[in-house]
Amino acid sequence: MQPEQPTTHPASLDAFWMPFTANRQFKAKPRLMAAAKGMYYTTVDGREVLDGTAGLWCVNAGHGREEIAAAVHAQVMELDFAPTFQMGHPGPFALADRLVKMLPGDLNHVFFTNSGSESVDTALKIALAYHRVRGEGARTRLIGRERGYHGVGFGGISVGGIAPNRKFFGSLIPGVDHLPHTHNLEHNAFTRGQPEWGAHLADELERIVTLHDASTIAAVIVEPLAGSTGVLVPPKGYLERLRAICDKYSILLIFDEVITGFGRLGSGFATEHFGVMPDLVTVAKGITNGTVPMGAVFARQGIHEAFMHGPDSAIELFHGYTYSGHPVACAAAEATLDIYEKEGLFDRARRLSSEWENAVHSLKGLPHVIDVRNMGLVAGVELASSGTPGARGYECLVNCFEQGLLIRTTGDIIALSPPLTIETSHIDQLIEQLTKVLKALP
Ligand SMILES: Cc1ncc(COP(=O)(O)O)c(C=O)c1O
Repeated sequence: MQPEQPTTHPASLDAFWMPFTANRQFKAKPRLMAAAKGMYYTTVDGREVLDGTAGLWCVNAGHGREEIAAAVHAQVMELDFAPTFQMGHPGPFALADRLVKMLPGDLNHVFFTNSGSESVDTALKIALAYHRVRGEGARTRLIGRERGYHGVGFGGISVGGIAPNRKFFGSLIPGVDHLPHTHNLEHNAFTRGQPEWGAHLADELERIVTLHDASTIAAVIVEPLAGSTGVLVPPKGYLERLRAICDKYSILLIFDEVITGFGRLGSGFATEHFGVMPDLVTVAKGITNGTVPMGAVFARQGIHEAFMHGPDSAIELFHGYTYSGHPVACAAAEATLDIYEKEGLFDRARRLSSEWENAVHSLKGLPHVIDVRNMGLVAGVELASSGTPGARGYECLVNCFEQGLLIRTTGDIIALSPPLTIETSHIDQLIEQLTKVLKALP
């Protein structure tokens, strides 16, 4: 597919300091997209690239959706911006009302942000403030998990469990501890869906509680399925145990659903998928199909209620962003939710998940493949290290791109998370191209 207008290479790549990128390596041999429609990107030199990653886990309804474009355009012309500090406009009220109906239980209040990182830092702040307004201000400790990714704010990298994201940035926020991760190939390699082994790892929370005392712990935050560190599917019973231990000690449980929200697992949210109710849920990405930055935090009734005391004139939570509930983001989100609903995309993901599972597990036995794991429309394919961690993964990414396939790699793990609009023919193409690349990798 050709872009509607020919796009030229930028005159210089120098000024843009690229995020999470080896800038010098990239700029020596760039990979530039010019256009996107449906399941495909088109590069600046006119090549088609199958999107195996929904952009960056966000374009769940596929690219170039006219309905979203029209809603964004109309919104800019009608109301481009209005503040939401001591002022309002209809957009975020209507959107919040619609969103809370999609979540189970009493997750019935929404705080809007502009990204996953902001959602995480917002949720952590709500957790701390919640305990304080209830008179338990000593509960300041936050518990994350090794191999957790919660964005790049100071809160997020503090509870996150990825060393390079943390080690350059000083002492981070104090009073944070980490659960062990659940990744174990000895027990769980080539599991389809949730592994049998590993629920006991949640009991480490008991050890942390014993060490610090429950009266100092505010919240535990985990990704229900860890995406960015290589698609780590929660062992059977693990999330349930975390919930039970949090309940026992009145610790809040936060699910970071920035990746799992909006259909990725074949349910609206992981919360519903696993039948485990957290106290706070963070989302972003798929909320606007990746078109306009937006994030949100869902809070259970009791959490919101705890703040609604004192004089009516008192601001209950000293937190917010200029663009919280931005009119254009709200319009994009409404149009996105319309598409999800009209096209039944979450059900579609569920229906396709066994076909997807069989397809990705067909990679077992190919050179270097030491694990395949999957759930809904997401999969991780782990490659043996070549000796230089990440080198084989990177080579695979570059070769796939040259073959016309966009994958994402974390070290030597390939993550696949296509738009939920994927068809059988795309799954076949993806597996065929990846197989070819894997077979040719040294
Ligand atoms: C689970 C999770 N939390 C938070 C984030 C951060 O989101 P953002 O990049 O929008 O700040 C991500 C991004 O991938 C994520 O996967």
